[in-house]
Amino acid sequence: MQVVETVAQVRDQLARWRQQGQSIALVPTMGNLHDGHMSLVDRAGELADRVCATIFVNPSQFGPGEDFEQYPRTPEHDMALLSEGGCDLLLTPSVAEMYPTGQDNSTRVRVPGSDQGLCDASRPGHFDGVATVVTALLNIFQPHVAIFGEKDFQQLMVIRRLVKDLHLPVTIVGSPTVREASGLAVSSRNRYLDEDQKQRAAAIYAALCAVRDGVQAGHPQDDVSTGAWRSMQAAGLEPEYLELRRTLDLAPASPEDLELVVLTAARMGGTRLIDNLSFPRTP
Ligand code: PAF
Repeated sequence: MQVVETVAQVRDQLARWRQQGQSIALVPTMGNLHDGHMSLVDRAGELADRVCATIFVNPSQFGPGEDFEQYPRTPEHDMALLSEGGCDLLLTPSVAEMYPTGQDNSTRVRVPGSDQGLCDASRPGHFDGVATVVTALLNIFQPHVAIFGEKDFQQLMVIRRLVKDLHLPVTIVGSPTVREASGLAVSSRNRYLDEDQKQRAAAIYAALCAVRDGVQAGHPQDDVSTGAWRSMQAAGLEPEYLELRRTLDLAPASPEDLELVVLTAARMGGTRLIDNLSFPRTP
């Protein structure tokens, strides 16, 4: 695996591969890699000749008081995993490399609809930061395909929308959430949890399943959501939102909508965890 720090180095290498007619897949990450990321790398290897990844803890998607400084940085571990996982090229840029005119002064990409509540309500501006850095990464690599986790469902919708609106010549692939045996979605932020908190945080996935089962059984949506909310609280979680939306555009679900997704964010201790589950209205 080649590890580079500059955009120019990426472009040099990719020009060679393109000349040889090889297709390129990109897996953007913020590092601290786990099984969830590695499933994206596996998928990338199935979809293209060359697998590229990035590790960049993007400051512009963290709000004031969020965990930008504490966000786990584990470069040695990440490089070993990526290399074993068949990654061909890794970009680990500095903030100055990614934001050449300065982070606060740089062009921002804002996707309409990213302010439809859910994570945006408590993290205003977060999706502008994601959209901005993902647009830049897609321009740097110009990959045939880019892979993102479905765990960040709202993020995936924002990225699909920006690719459509800006006519970016790339296929965006969503990859299913990887879960612990308990059902807890694998996430970099799980490392902030102790074993007991991890076990109790499994109530998040149980709550999502309860909403799916209740909705599919035709129970009133409010009753189903209230029960699921209380079950998370009983496990020691502080839910921030638990909402049923339609998968098409994340608008609030109406009884006519058949493709649904229930999304939640909840805190365990100081740690904010997110998860979601897509399902059809009829079982
Ligand atoms: O999902 C992430 O890790 C980040 O939001 C992403 C897509 C790499 C952009 O910084």
